[in-house]
Amino acid sequence: MKKIAVLTSGGDAPGMNACIRAVVRGAIYYECEVFGILRGYQGLIDNEIMPMDSHSVSNILQHGGTILKSARCEEFRSKDGRKKAYDNLLANDINGIIVIGGDGTFTGANIFNQEYKISIIGVPGTIDNDIYGTDKTIGFDTAVNTTLDAIDKIRDTADSHGRIFFIEVMGRDSGYIAIQSAIGGGAESVILPEKHLTPADVVDHLRDGIRRKKSFSIVIVAEKDVPGYAVELAKEVSDLIKSSDIRVTILGHIQRGGSPTSTDRTLASRLGLGAVEGLIDGITNQMVGVINDKIVYTSLSDAIGKTKPLNPDLLRIMKILSI
Ligand code: F6P
Repeated sequence: MKKIAVLTSGGDAPGMNACIRAVVRGAIYYECEVFGILRGYQGLIDNEIMPMDSHSVSNILQHGGTILKSARCEEFRSKDGRKKAYDNLLANDINGIIVIGGDGTFTGANIFNQEYKISIIGVPGTIDNDIYGTDKTIGFDTAVNTTLDAIDKIRDTADSHGRIFFIEVMGRDSGYIAIQSAIGGGAESVILPEKHLTPADVVDHLRDGIRRKKSFSIVIVAEKDVPGYAVELAKEVSDLIKSSDIRVTILGHIQRGGSPTSTDRTLASRLGLGAVEGLIDGITNQMVGVINDKIVYTSLSDAIGKTKPLNPDLLRIMKILSI
């Protein structure tokens, strides 16, 4: 392994910069040349590939976003797009790539590897924490801390006015952000993609709370495919509970930004270096993860194909503590 390239793809996540830094410095430590690819797979197709040195990654560790930029690339889904990407790797003499992203990124990487036998290691970078083969993904911890900061503030005004607040968090079809925000934010109820609760169930929870003399309530709602589900749900609940004092806050992309927490900086640094060391050891078509505090490698097909279930203990804790 002489020349390694790194890219970030899909939704950005706080800690991606710390990971890029670890890849670049790790590669230099092992005497490899290292390149940054801009805008994910799109930059690979468009040959936006630049050499990096240890100074190109100084003073980035603490910043959210990604210095390499990111994209969700349609063209890489086509054979033609992947052919262009491969030709550019050949032209630049690059023999291994590290892709930082989520399941969409790994799906592309897996197909690319099967077609061209290029050495690839994936690094799980997504706030959703929905990737099999790692306990946590880069950005998840920061995103949850951001939601908690917002929930704490909303709690103040909910308390003053005795209101019910529906707070929508990200996670697409995974409830990790929602359940952890609900527990840490002391919510009364949580709506998860993995566990179907009807508006009537939510009303039951809220009525229980009112019976126990709760003067305000917080309901955390995981977004569905299209953001804004909390608005729909709040409307149905307000019709059932006959209360107009219901408000909705959609936290949205605020969860994707900001300075990474200590946990994310350390995780990103470990995974970035783990990816470089994996490539050098001849590991390919795998994702690097941390399970029980140890670096592990999982095939990209498992990382994409298997689901990481929510920890049932978190659901149990939520139920008991929200009385
Ligand atoms: O996958 C990360 C994520 O932030 C999801 O939680 C969310 O549903 C999605 O990306 C939003 O994507 P976009 O940036 O395209 O709006």
